[in-house]
This record gives sequence, structure tokens and C-alpha cells, in this order.
Amino acid sequence: MTANVDLIALKIHGDERGSLVALGNGHHLPFDVKRVYYIFGTKEGVSRGFHAHKKLTQLLIAVRGSCRITCEYNNKKEEYILSRPDEGLQIDGLVWREMHDFSSDCVLLVLASDYYSEADYIRDYQTFLNEELHD
Ligand code: TYD
Repeated sequence: MTANVDLIALKIHGDERGSLVALGNGHHLPFDVKRVYYIFGTKEGVSRGFHAHKKLTQLLIAVRGSCRITCEYNNKKEEYILSRPDEGLQIDGLVWREMHDFSSDCVLLVLASDYYSEADYIRDYQTFLNEELHD
């Protein structure tokens, strides 16, 4: 699977009452969602992630607060600050991702293209580099 990372603007339905973002399969989402999870209450100074997926697409949205995501793929390393509920970071394929600098109020929502499977994880960085070479 080719690796790619993209920051996507999510359409806001706004009026005098405030804002609403709606995401559904085939509707402002470039992949079908099978799983949703969210990360919150992250302790100060804690980083998460440190893995790649063999075959998974995810959309990460900081629906509250902020965090910093590093993505390593195709021999480059990118860094994104997620701090807006109307912005999603789409991560496709073989990407080594790390999540840092969670604000204490951060709620990071993740939409995923498949069910949880430990078999899809690469948790060892050297194994990721080897997989990348042969991808
Ligand atoms: P973990 O993979 O350590 O989270 P991260 O890589 O984002 O830091 O997951 C923490 C725990 O949650 C671990 O026991 C696996 C479990 N988990 C599920 O049961 N389902 C899921 O969809 C995810 C993402 C994790």
C-alpha cells in the first residue's frame, strides 16, 4: 500500500448558534469507516503511537485541544500541529506515527478504515524501516 499523509479541511455547517461538522461514508470522508476511537486525558509529557500500520487509513481530528503528530514515510518526516475541530490529518498506509505534546484538554478523535487488529501493527522502528525498503 502506498503511504501518504494529508491535512484535510472539514466542512463546517455554521450559523448563529455555532458550528457542526458531519462526516459519513461517502460524505466528506475519502474512505469507509469501520472503527472510531478517541484519546483523552493524556498525562503531561506523555507521547503515544510509535508504530506504523501495514494497511490502514485513519483520519485524526483534535476535536478539542491540541497535539503534535510526526509522520515518517517515503523517506521523509513531517510534523503537524492538530488544533482545530474542522481539520483532519489523513494517514494512509505504511507511516511511522508519533503523537506528542497533548494539551491537558486534548480529545483526539480517530476514524479508521478497519477493525482493531494487532496483526496490522508494526511496533518496532527497525522493522518499519525494513518494510519501507521492500514496499
Ligand atoms: P495503543 O496501541 O497503545 O495506543 P497508541 O498506539 O495510540 O498509543 O493502545 C492502547 C490500548 O488500547 C491497547 O491495549 C490496545 C487497545 N486498543 C483497542 O482495544 N482498540 C483500538 O482500536 C485501539 C486503537 C487500541
